[in-house]
Amino acid sequence: MATYRVLVTDNLAPEGIAILENDAEISVDVRPGIPRDDLARCIGDYDAIVTRSGTSITAALLENSGRLKIIGRAGVGLDNIDIEAASLKGVIVMNAPTGNTIAATELALGMMLAAARKIPAANASLKREEWNRKQFLGMQLYGKTLGIVGLGRIGGSVAVRAKGLGMKPIAYDPYVRASKAEHLGVELCDRLDDLLAACDVLTVHTPMTPETENLIGARELALMKDGVVIVNCARGGIINEDALYEAAKSGKVFAAGVDVFGSEPPGHHRLLELDNVFVTPHIGANTVEGQKGVAVIIAEQVINALKGRAYENAVNIPFMRSQLPAEMQLYFDLATAMGRLAAQVTKGRPEALEFTMVGATFKEDFGERVFDIPFSYQPFTVAALKGFLELTVKETVTYINAAYLARERDLAVRETKSSSYDRFNDLLLLRVKTDTEEHLLGGTVFSDGVGRVLFLDQFHLEMVAAGSYLYFKNIDKPGIVGRVGTVLGDNAINIAGFNLSRVLGGKAVSFVSLDNDVPSRVLDELLAVDGLLEARVVRL
Ligand code: NAD
Ligand code: MLT
Repeated sequence: MATYRVLVTDNLAPEGIAILENDAEISVDVRPGIPRDDLARCIGDYDAIVTRSGTSITAALLENSGRLKIIGRAGVGLDNIDIEAASLKGVIVMNAPTGNTIAATELALGMMLAAARKIPAANASLKREEWNRKQFLGMQLYGKTLGIVGLGRIGGSVAVRAKGLGMKPIAYDPYVRASKAEHLGVELCDRLDDLLAACDVLTVHTPMTPETENLIGARELALMKDGVVIVNCARGGIINEDALYEAAKSGKVFAAGVDVFGSEPPGHHRLLELDNVFVTPHIGANTVEGQKGVAVIIAEQVINALKGRAYENAVNIPFMRSQLPAEMQLYFDLATAMGRLAAQVTKGRPEALEFTMVGATFKEDFGERVFDIPFSYQPFTVAALKGFLELTVKETVTYINAAYLARERDLAVRETKSSSYDRFNDLLLLRVKTDTEEHLLGGTVFSDGVGRVLFLDQFHLEMVAAGSYLYFKNIDKPGIVGRVGTVLGDNAINIAGFNLSRVLGGKAVSFVSLDNDVPSRVLDELLAVDGLLEARVVRL
């Protein structure tokens, strides 16, 4: 009897289907083109759904998500999946971003050559039995500057191959590390306008985001050299289609190659009328190898995720704890504990949470930025957020939905980095603001591999960030701590460790580790001690 049910709703290469079918614990239903109503009815009966771009996974569809745990997209683009709706349901969204990189790269290069030499038009002309060599005067790519917008997997792979054609690749990508461009031998432009002015051929390889929609419009095309060649094998609408039409019609653009459209299929589209615009029906990923690649990757990832094994490419989990270096896993756990502690020592309605990573340890980012999701926090911020929220909201908070839940609750989240703080080298800082108060917590991992909370506001501590503590705050005057000890002793509660910090003549806070639990009646007894301001059990 199979344990997991998987539904495949688009044409997936047979190699991927075979991997699913050959697993004894998986039962697969392959229903490409399944009617929407049927899908809405049955989606909650499956543990995972595997799609390509043919199935839109909307919030409405996910309303009855039932037992659904995974949405697997066999490809890169996630524009057909409502990631936020999935995240709020705790459903993992994963893609197979590396499976079709070469396929898309080769189409972009093919488009470049086809456009520069007008190969499709020459082909069509000869098939009409014309022999018109003069009409097909082309442009040489050798020695030309190739402007690449988006230096990710495909952009980088195009750059490497374009060098083989003798082109000079330059790139604009505000999110890529300078070291990547250096490694690829690509000059990185700080401003898009500089790239546009310099290139003879432009190719875009960004995802579709609010920032990249219409990134290349009439203004940008006007900045370019006359006779530029333009290629879009990424997403329709990154280059404004009306502006491209005008520029190609006027001859400003020598020729363009377009694989993707704002609306697909494009139907009767003005761009299709122009002799110098060459089009293909979104076939960037359509090679035997590309389709096999994404199908195999997604099938394996889905199986691994269902069985609780390590897997890659989940886009709404910004990281995996297990994929962080060992030391960073300790910081990750510390951040979670700090979030939990902050939630338990703070009164009032949470308004803002600011997480700061201090020191050289955090200089580089951990994990790739995912453009398809609105939040791109570092793992430690998400961990602190999860720790904080799981004690203040009722639903199950996961690493997937923590950032979304924060936004739903109007909790302003801010993530920063700093090279130093006070006398500390590597430190995590968590500031929480509510409508009534504000607290700042600091913590670090010592060389003994133990995460400790070093301070809470002005109170210096060195408290191990794990386990349960009796937390109390009192006026700093003689006798109070003794009376707390007496109450605990009278109730047969043994003290295992004591962390006290005070501001002389002001207030003191204590975190007491205990051998036994503190019942609420004992907490009431403690709160009756004169000068004791707060007392509660905190669990980290
Ligand atoms: P990727 O995530 O590896 O790279 C995208 C790059 O774009 C990143 O380096 C990112 O920093 C950069 N970027 C994001 N916003 C930017 C901005 N505002 N300005 C400049 N750069 C920005 O993705 P990839 O795998 O290389 O895919 C690139 C695109 O190609 C995606 O849109 C994908 O959906 C598309 N794609 C299309 C086909 C096809 O069939 N035509 C096939 C595969 C991929
Ligand atoms: C992708 O994003 O992977 C490509 O556009 C191909 C596809 O949509 O399947």
